Amino acid sequence: MLDSSPAARRGFSRRVIGWQKANGRHDLPWQQTADPYRIWLSEIMLQQTQVPTVIPYYARFLARFPTLEALARAPLGSVLELWSGLGYYARARNLHRCAQMLVGERAGKFSADPRENVDLPGIGRSTAAAISVFAFGRRAAILDGNVKRVLARCFAVTAGSSAAQDQRALWALAESLLPERGVQSYTQGMMDLGATVCTARQPACAGCPLREICVARRDGRQAELPERRSRAALPQRSSSVLLLTDGQRVLLERRPPVGIWGGLLSLPELRGEAPDAFVLRHGCRLLSARALPPIAHVFSHFRLRIEVLRCDVEVLGGASEAVLEWLPVDQIAAAALPAPIKKLLLGAAV
Ligand code: ADE
Repeated sequence: MLDSSPAARRGFSRRVIGWQKANGRHDLPWQQTADPYRIWLSEIMLQQTQVPTVIPYYARFLARFPTLEALARAPLGSVLELWSGLGYYARARNLHRCAQMLVGERAGKFSADPRENVDLPGIGRSTAAAISVFAFGRRAAILDGNVKRVLARCFAVTAGSSAAQDQRALWALAESLLPERGVQSYTQGMMDLGATVCTARQPACAGCPLREICVARRDGRQAELPERRSRAALPQRSSSVLLLTDGQRVLLERRPPVGIWGGLLSLPELRGEAPDAFVLRHGCRLLSARALPPIAHVFSHFRLRIEVLRCDVEVLGGASEAVLEWLPVDQIAAAALPAPIKKLLLGAAV
């Protein structure tokens, strides 16, 4: 670890702030405001998604829901629809729930104090800090994936005996580096450095303001830091779904509100039922059936292999269920569908 004296720590933040002012990003849409609603929305969208992808979603979202109150009043379905394609839909569900909690219980306002926002749905310690910094000018440390990489490389932080211990050590380091003044430029600078210079692969060290103090650069260890913990192999699950179509529409099922892809439309699961029984039960006559290549999808805690049986049918009418709906094929692109399912449907020539 490098010299951790107060002077060395000031040197770190001074370099980051100077670089941010000269070379950082200044024109991102959420940098033109101190409105906590807009800052919060941007931080949630940016949690697992890169800036260029977020920008058009952010603009569309604000055009439709210009205020926290408008978002709180909206049905969840229309929030999910605007989120469609961004992925990690739990973020959209938490966003909606958070808006309702703020409006219902906290007079429609975020607190300036990160400790009071940290338990709101979808807001962890780092997002709470970013809201306090950017919307209220408070002094608080962030620690997202990008910042962890910058710190791990600059200070050669290696993995300790547990992930929780590593996390504690990085938070302590992030807190200790926080400058007394210029916290907004510093925070934005750390984000910008991680996203544009100290990238995971092939970092652009020549343009880095920390190049003279960075241990990873000094020792040529950029590729090995941050150290990755070997994770236990993820368990494998499988499921079978039907792609049922009459040529103009596909049959979709609204997923239960909790669990994977909660609240989204997806292909109906067979859950052990025979495909022809399913087809009949839904008022259709089977014309042809064929298996499509299975979908492999990795969630944070398991891998899912989805067998897909395409059934072309004639709709005779009759039986239906509240959770099922026929979606016209020209609406697939805009629907709130899980990304791999949307990809399958757009490529399946229905
Ligand atoms: N990533 C997370 N928050 C961000 C922000 N405010 N600006 C740019 N990238 C970010």
